[in-house]
Amino acid sequence: MTTTPTNATQHNPTAAGSGASASEAFRTSRGQGTAEAVPAERVATVVRAVLDGVHETIRNHQVTYPEFQAAKQWLMDVGEGGEWPLFLDVFVEHAVEEVAAGTQQGTKGTILGPYYLPDQPKLPSVTALPTRPDENGTPLVFAGQVRDTAGNPVPGAELDVWQADDRGYYSGFAPDIPAGNLRGVVVTDDRGRFEITTIQPAPYRIPTDGPTGRLIEAAGWHPWRPAHLHLIVRATGHRSITTQLYFEGGEWLDSDVAEATKPELVLDPQGQGDGRLRSEYDFVLEPAEGRLSGPKQQH
Ligand code: DHB
Ligand code: FE
Repeated sequence: MTTTPTNATQHNPTAAGSGASASEAFRTSRGQGTAEAVPAERVATVVRAVLDGVHETIRNHQVTYPEFQAAKQWLMDVGEGGEWPLFLDVFVEHAVEEVAAGTQQGTKGTILGPYYLPDQPKLPSVTALPTRPDENGTPLVFAGQVRDTAGNPVPGAELDVWQADDRGYYSGFAPDIPAGNLRGVVVTDDRGRFEITTIQPAPYRIPTDGPTGRLIEAAGWHPWRPAHLHLIVRATGHRSITTQLYFEGGEWLDSDVAEATKPELVLDPQGQGDGRLRSEYDFVLEPAEGRLSGPKQQH
């Protein structure tokens, strides 16, 4: 068997390759010094609490040596398969986001997930996301306005949008999808408005052929996220918002494996009469408040 190095733009032949590509994308977009240094005191406090939780679970559930060894093997497999970003974003990120949301006003945020790619091309306020000539899926027009918390329109705001295709796959991570497909940075007009033509994404399934998928199966859970659009909305002088929009009545909306849905983030697209669906959604950004407010500050 030949192996090829994995990177964010290469298309891997297996679904589990999505996990490995997500690891590579994380390293690339975060650079070397991912972390602002975490102070020793925080490391001690938080890691101690995590270990205490593990020990308590072992005692409460009388965990055996075979179970401990199975867990060790699984942890090794997740690392070797490059699936840590995928696993952590599905099972842990929603709690981190909940903490962040405690200090956030305006449009609700939710998880970033593992499939964001920075530096996509800028697109005008009325635009279509890049698609393949034969892109499947119901056409969807997604329009609205970006405003600040005082109600003023925000011209020149960026909507960094990415989404799965009609089979639930993301460009840059799944086989056979051209780089940049269904991704773009839409810039609002002088009234803060935008209108994006795209297609309705399909629900997303965690790759079943990797260690995360095997765990989900072993536990008898389901591997699905409801269909969603991803967005980071940013504007100079404002706090960026990382969010997702879901679809009313969509499958898995009430049982997202990533626990990342919020009632405020559900679209209800209506037929336009021309075979396309249309949905309006307005975003509200709060002031940056002394934070650095460069357009890429959050990610
Ligand atoms: C994962 C995938 C997503 O598309 C998403 O929005 C969140 C998490 C994941 O597989 O980890
Ligand atoms: Fe997603």
